[in-house]
Parts: sequence; structure tokens; C-alpha cells
Amino acid sequence: MSRAAVLCGLGSALPATAVTNEELAARLDTTDRWIRTRTGIGQRYVIAPGEATSDLAVTAAERALESARRGGGDGTDEVDLVIVATSTPDRPCPATAPGVAHRLGLGKVAAFDVAAVCTGFVYALAAAASMITAGAAHRALVVGADTFSTILDPTDRTTRAIFGDGAGAVVLRAGEADEPGALLGFDLGSDGGGADLITVRAGGSRQRASGLPPAEGDQWFAMEGRSVFTEAVINMSESAQRLLDRVGWKQGELDKVVAHQANVRILHAVGEQLGLEQQQIVVNLDRVGNTVAASIPLAMADAAGDGDLVPGQRVVLTGFGGGLTWGSTALIWPDVEPVRAPAHR
Ligand code: COA
Repeated sequence: MSRAAVLCGLGSALPATAVTNEELAARLDTTDRWIRTRTGIGQRYVIAPGEATSDLAVTAAERALESARRGGGDGTDEVDLVIVATSTPDRPCPATAPGVAHRLGLGKVAAFDVAAVCTGFVYALAAAASMITAGAAHRALVVGADTFSTILDPTDRTTRAIFGDGAGAVVLRAGEADEPGALLGFDLGSDGGGADLITVRAGGSRQRASGLPPAEGDQWFAMEGRSVFTEAVINMSESAQRLLDRVGWKQGELDKVVAHQANVRILHAVGEQLGLEQQQIVVNLDRVGNTVAASIPLAMADAAGDGDLVPGQRVVLTGFGGGLTWGSTALIWPDVEPVRAPAHR
């Protein structure tokens, strides 16, 4: 059998503060009814002043390592790679991952960030799995962490309703491709022609910091919701289908899809395209909103903790996000006990 990266630990972290739709509606021109019916979201979590993305990343990573230990895995000293998928790093430079590795006490391991917005976690899994199969790493921590509350326009009722902060992490170990938890293949893609659909215009080298305030609103995250909706449905469905073809699973053989949690209507449309029943699509955005790179591992931790993902099931993970980017991977769900954020409920 060939060498593969095997998922053996799963953890998640959320800030202490949940903001309900009613609380948003008290400040912005929106209603609980609009947000629930148009997105499926009931609340989202936001970090406190002074907190940063790495704080959530470290907690989720500690929990993923604890989950791996409970599953009989080796100690943390064996981790030799840390990848943090994020589009809200602690600072523009350096990357967030080395600091996370340092705070976890992992020693001088390889550590870098991946920026693929809501597809970041799948891209980071692909990078870690490729390094493990190539023999360049043996045990990897892959973290998806974002704090979009720090880049949202406080007056934008649409993005404020959708996005929330959070982190999720997995431990990948070197193993064999026929083991449960082995990542069985990847489909990754991008379309830079859609870069303006999901963007923060200022703050990079194109519209650089000049000491003056950026042009009106350019420092905030901006999104063209309707176009993004359509692109998300098309690209997650097509990517998941290409992945199924690559792995050799027929649509009817798939048990569960963990898709990026952007909008419940997007999730249902993707499920329909893949010939799935609604209960085969994991949904946790009602409790956490769209947590960007954290979305897929947070949804996996919730679903596994609730008994909605069970060992032996054929599972596809699929994401879509800014870039535009998309990506999918597949695994037989392993016997893994997630260590979840206590603030989840
Ligand atoms: N509360 C009340 N009304 C709102 C609102 C809110 N929070 N946000 C938008 N509206 C209004 C709009 O202003 C618009 O009003 P108008 O008709 O007077 O102009 C109306 O609702 C309909 O807007 P529209 O954009 O057509 O709604 P929609 O059904 O497409 O839903 C999104 C908007 C953003 C929820 C939806 O397009 C979406 O989920 N897109 C994908 C977003 C996403 O997932 N991004 C991340 C992907 S990685």
C-alpha cells in the first residue's frame, strides 16, 4: 500500500461571545427572520478586543493534539509541520503559523500560512498531505483560523450577518492509503478573474498603506453576494464530482458531505447537484455563521461530536472562497473523538 496522510485528531475553538441575530438587528437594519431565511444563520461568535486569530488557532490545535492522544497517538513532540490557513493573520508579516508552533512548544518545526480564504483549509490539507506522502513531514497540524469580525464594515448588514470568528484543527500522521482517515485525493482550482467578487482592496501592495486613511470603505471586506452564491454552488458541486470520479466513488456511495458553511441555501443546492438527501449535508452554520478557513474543520468537529459523522462513512470535504478558489478531498471517516469548543452551545 502507498504512503498517505491519515486524519487522527480533531479540535475546534470559538470565542467566548456569541452575537445573536436579534443583537445584530438592534444595531443594523436587519431582522432575525431575514438572516435565518436567506442564510440559515442564527448566531455567530466574535473575538474580544485584544484577541487575535492565533489565540483561536492555538486553542484549536491544542484540542486536536489532545484528540489525537485520546485516539492512542504519540506525543506532540512528533509534530514536524504546522500549517495555518487564514486570511486574517495576526500581522501582514510574518506568517501566523510559526508563532502558533512556538506557543504550542513544538520546537523548530516547519511552519507556514496558506491564504485561500474559505478554501484555505482544503488547500492546507493538500499541502500537508503532499509533504507527508513525499516524506518531507511525518506528522502535521493543519489549522483553519479566521477572525473576519476584524475586517468587516461595522455598518454592512450583509457581511455582519454572515461571518463569524473561529478555528478548527486536525492532526495528520503518516500512514497507509487503505486506513480509515487517509486523505484519498484532491481536486483544487482557482479563477483569478473573479478576484474582485470577494476582496479587501486596501492594505496590500496594490493599494498600500500610506499613513493616510484608505479610500472610503476600502479597508473593509467586500463581497458581491449574488455572484458569489452562484459561483459557490457551481464550483463546490463540480469540484466534489471531479473528486468522486478521481477516487472512484459513485454519487450513491457517498455518505456525507462537509461543505464550506457559507449559506444553508448553497449547501442544499450543492447536495441536490450531488444527488444527496438534505441530512447527508453537514450543517452547523446556524450556530457559528461563515467562519472562513475554520468552517470545514469546525463543521467536522461538530458533526463528529454529535454522532452525525461516524466511523466508516464515505465523506467528501469541499470548499469555495475568495480568489476565486475551490477544492475537495475525500476520506473514510476514522474513529476520532473530537475535542470541541465548550462555548459551542
Ligand atoms: N438584512 C435585511 N436585508 C438585507 C440584508 C440583511 N442582513 N442583507 C441584504 N439585504 C437586502 C439587500 O439589500 C436587498 O435589498 P434590495 O432588494 O432592496 O436591494 C435584498 O436584501 C436582497 O439582496 P440579495 O443580495 O439579492 O439577497 P440574496 O438572497 O442574494 O442574499 C446573501 C444575500 C449575501 C445572503 C447571498 O447572496 C449569499 O449568501 N451569497 C453568498 C455569500 C457567501 O457565502 N460568501 C462567502 C463565500 S465563501
